[in-house]
Amino acid sequence: MHISAFGALSSSPADLDACFRLHQAATAVDRPAEPAPVRPAYVARLTRAPAPGRRYLDWLARSATTGDLTGLASLMLLGDQPSDLAAIDVTVHPRYRRQGIGSALLAELAGAASGRCSLLIEGLTEGSPGQAWAAAHGFAVAQRTVVLTIDMTSVDRTRWCVSAPSGYRLAHWTGSAPDDLLKSYAAARNAIAEAPHGKLSFTEPEWTPLRVRAAEAAARSRSCELWVIAAVHEESAQVVGLTYLEVDQHSPELAVQQDTAVLRAHRGHGIGAWMKAANLQLLAARRPQVRQVRTSNAADNEHMLRVNRQVGLVVQMATENRQASVSDLAIRLGRLGRPRLAEDGGQELLRLGLDPGQVPRPAEGLGVQLVHVLGAGRPGGEPA
Ligand SMILES: CC(C)(COP(=O)(O)OP(=O)(O)OC[C@H]1O[C@@H](n2cnc3c(N)ncnc32)[C@H](O)[C@@H]1OP(=O)(O)O)[C@@H](O)C(=O)NCCC(=O)NCCS
Repeated sequence: MHISAFGALSSSPADLDACFRLHQAATAVDRPAEPAPVRPAYVARLTRAPAPGRRYLDWLARSATTGDLTGLASLMLLGDQPSDLAAIDVTVHPRYRRQGIGSALLAELAGAASGRCSLLIEGLTEGSPGQAWAAAHGFAVAQRTVVLTIDMTSVDRTRWCVSAPSGYRLAHWTGSAPDDLLKSYAAARNAIAEAPHGKLSFTEPEWTPLRVRAAEAAARSRSCELWVIAAVHEESAQVVGLTYLEVDQHSPELAVQQDTAVLRAHRGHGIGAWMKAANLQLLAARRPQVRQVRTSNAADNEHMLRVNRQVGLVVQMATENRQASVSDLAIRLGRLGRPRLAEDGGQELLRLGLDPGQVPRPAEGLGVQLVHVLGAGRPGGEPA
């Protein structure tokens, strides 16, 4: 086995092809109900600019004998504090599983994340190889989640006729927040931090007008359209709630529901359902090519789930987010037995620094890129 850091932006078309074929083969086995991946959309995700404050480090695993691509791993680092989010995504080609490749890639990820407290894996489905692998490496369940979808071709659109709470108006934009709402919009985005977060130990950086503008620019640069609805309190002219959808122009049939939040003082008036219903109405009218809206929720976020059901989202599956301490992982991976990595005669063990008790060394090179849409690409998606 040969593991190397990978920079998607500077990689050859042949490498990108190999990554796509691996992703295709894994999707067919792991998520057979999903539409088959499309190369331009996958490559665009792999090579797009990260959202502000995020860095992606990637690795490829190849067979030392055939040179075939056997695994892909990505580490997403948000911010630079030890408690900031560090999320991972590892995919091993179905033909090469249970040979220790996923574990070897995890050793690279843990080494590169050695300044962080914990690593997060999102969206693991019950009974999946990913769940078993994560459990085997000591990742504990930190939060139970559910994936919900709306079939836009058959949903009962009368669900979107939600009456307006008095004293509020809606503002809508795609792309950039209007200047006069920017400050209060940024402040309202911080309300997402109050969503239930189970045992997750990560902190979310504060939303500021600067961060909002940077996020908007990053979305534009990765051809991602933002559909934002804000609830404005008429008396104060301040944004008090928001919801937004993302439509990746390389996958125009899918919209991903991201954050929805209402400031505490304005909860209980039906603002959440009103905003979400209005956004779906607008999307259906202006982007009829969108066939599915998808989102993920904490399983114990009763209010959000009630709103989601009200506007037509249907629970598709239960998932979970797991986390492990980076230092525990380093100890555990340092104890991995040599025979599991014997494909190339154990030479790779030395390169990986997998001697007992030894902390895996950080990767030498830094790759970058990708984005995770509910288990189909990059780790660390924005909370829904
Ligand atoms: C999860 C995944 C990366 C594991 O890769 P892998 O190279 O097969 O894993 P390893 O060989 O390193 O497995 C290490 C241990 O994890 C456990 N494990 C891995 N896959 C398992 C499975 N399907 N069932 C039960 N246990 C499993 C075992 O304890 C295994 O050790 P063993 O083979 O000696 O019993 C791979 O199945 C995959 O790509 N799945 C789809 C993507 C995904 O879910 N990624 C994980 C989230 S980041």
